[in-house]
Amino acid sequence: MKRIAFLVSGSGTNMENLVKQIKAGKIQADPAIVISNKPGIKALEKATALGVKAIVIDHKAYADRVAFDKALEECLEFHKIDLIVLAGFMRVLTEGFVKKNWGRVINIHPALLPAFPGAHAIKDAWDAKVQETGVTVHFVDCGVDTGPIILQRKVPILSGDTLQTLETRVHDAEYEIYPEALNLVLSGKIKGSSLKL
Ligand code: GAR
Repeated sequence: MKRIAFLVSGSGTNMENLVKQIKAGKIQADPAIVISNKPGIKALEKATALGVKAIVIDHKAYADRVAFDKALEECLEFHKIDLIVLAGFMRVLTEGFVKKNWGRVINIHPALLPAFPGAHAIKDAWDAKVQETGVTVHFVDCGVDTGPIILQRKVPILSGDTLQTLETRVHDAEYEIYPEALNLVLSGKIKGSSLKL
C-alpha cells in the first residue's frame, strides 16, 4: 500500500475528503501523515479527528526555503512516504526538492490551468468575468501551479452566480476530481516519473 503524505496550509477540506475516501475503501492507500507549514490551522484539527498523524513544520522556524524543504524531506523519508499530495499547501517547493521527488508530488488548483495560477484563482477568474473556470490536478514542477496536468474539470460561471456560489461549486468539483486523479496516479496509469521535468 502506497504511503501518502498530505501537505496542507489551511482549512484542509480536500485532505479530509481524500482521507474519508481512503477510509471508505474508494482509494487504496495509507494516509500516513498530514504535514502543515503553519501551526493552529483547521487542517490539523481535521487530521487528528480522522485519526491521521498530524505534524507542523513551521516554515517561519527556517532561514530559507532550502532549509525548510530539507526538514520536509527528512520527515518524508522518516515516514517512508511514497506519494506527496498537496492539498491547499501554499508554499512553492525548491528546485532541489522538486527534482528529487519528481513524479511523486501532485497538487490541486481551483482553476483551469494554465489560466489563473496563484493563491486567489477563483476570485481572479470571477474578476476576469470569464464564462467558465474549473479545477486542475497536476504533477508539481518548479513553477507556481505549473507541471503536467493529470485531470481537469470545467465549472461554468452562471448568470445567477455570486463569488460565494462559484466558490462552492469549484470546491465541489475539487472533491470529485482529486480522488479520481489520485486513483489514476496510484493505479500507475499515469506515471509522473516518466514525464519530462
Ligand atoms: C483549494 O481550493 C485548493 O485548490 C487551493 O487551496 C484550497 C485549499 O482548500 N489551492 C491553491 O490555490 C493552490 N494554488 P482546503 O485546504 O480546504 O483543501
